[in-house]
Parts: sequence; structure tokens; C-alpha cells
Amino acid sequence: MKHYLLAPSILSANFASLGEDITKVITAGGDIIHFDVMDNHYVPNLTMGPMILKSLINYGIRVPFDVHLMIKPVDNLIPAFAKAGATYITFHPEASDHIDRTLQIIREHGCKSGLVLNPTTSLDYIEYIMDKLDIILLMSVNPGFGNQKFLPNILNKLCKLRKIIDFSGYNILIEIDGGVKIDNIRQLAIAGADIFVIGSAIFNNRDYKQAIDAIRKEISI
Ligand code: DX5
Ligand code: ZN
Repeated sequence: MKHYLLAPSILSANFASLGEDITKVITAGGDIIHFDVMDNHYVPNLTMGPMILKSLINYGIRVPFDVHLMIKPVDNLIPAFAKAGATYITFHPEASDHIDRTLQIIREHGCKSGLVLNPTTSLDYIEYIMDKLDIILLMSVNPGFGNQKFLPNILNKLCKLRKIIDFSGYNILIEIDGGVKIDNIRQLAIAGADIFVIGSAIFNNRDYKQAIDAIRKEISI
């Protein structure tokens, strides 16, 4: 049985008591914390920066933070997120003028690097940078908001990406973000995802453990 990783997206968490809410979701079984950074420029929403990440780590959150940058430009904020304690840093190729350079900056700062592909962004972007990727995040909604509907065409894209990575021999994780719910997660696991970002399907429940247990049961395959 493969151990899939669940990455609760705190975009749907209670921001009035973020540290406590994250602790709750980790106790309930979350493996990684997905940290959505939005700038009201690359995406039409505004969220959190490195100060908040640092506070959460100082508060005592010890699981890896997966920082999803939806900001433009990207490069100048990477050192601050790395210093604040990010484990993974991912960004959108459309937001960087020099994708290879941005990936190098992330690794130079001691983080794992990754590219995020929007629903209509081609898989071709990864062809010449596979050696610089630890993770690829496939967006299955348009970035900017939680609780949107999964775009079904992404299933085919995920299958294609799985094949490309397996054929390449590189050890790159596939993460999927947007509209992941109990009724589609099994299909996504079979199609080859390794990490599932889940926002509303966890945080919109009263009992996080019950929600996570039910999700895990779906992917006990
Ligand atoms: C959207 C974000 C997601 C979002 C997912 O731009 O990247 O991480 O929080 O939320 P759900 O799981 O509710 O679709
Ligand atoms: Zn995200």
C-alpha cells in the first residue's frame, strides 16, 4: 500500500486562531501544511507572507510547510520564505521571467523546488528542468480561491505527467491542488498523484479527524 501524503490547505482554516487550527489538523492526520501565498496581482486574492509562516513555526508547528507562491515577481521573496522555514517552495512559470534561475534560487536557499502548472499550462514547461524539480503541482482549479470545482480534464493531464516522470527516472513528486474531495481522490491516486492538497474538504468539517480518516480510507489502495 502506497503512503499518500495529505496536505491540508490553510486557505480554508480559521485565521483568527491559525496556530491552534493547524495543530488540530496535524493531530487529525495532516502530513504537510499547504501555505497559499496570493498577491492580488498574479491572482485576484490576497493572503499571507513570510511573517505568518515564521510565526507559525515559532508557535511550534513542526510538519513541513509547502509554500505555493501565487505572486509575481517571484524571485525576491524566495529568501524570506526560505528563512521563515519553508520546506517546499513552488511557483507558476508564468510569474517568472527565468524559470530555471528561479528554481536554482529555491534550491540555493535550502528548499525543495517545484513548478505549479495551471489548468491550461502545458506539461512541456518541465522538459528541460526535470533535474531541478523535486515536486510538480498540478492545479485542478484556477488559482486564487478555495472551494472551487475540480476541472475533470486534469485527470488526463495527471496520467500523462505520471508517465513522463516514470519514464524520466527522476524522483519528482506529483501534487494536486484544487477541488480534491472524498469522491474524486481515489481516481487521482490511481492516476498517479503522490500528494493531495485539500482545503475545504477538511476545514469545512467540524471533526477534522473524521474527515481525514474518511479520505485516507478512500486511498488505502
Ligand atoms: C487555490 C489554492 C488551493 C486551495 C484549495 O488557489 O491553491 O490550495 O486552497 O482549496 P480546495 O481544496 O477547497 O479546492
Ligand atoms: Zn495551493
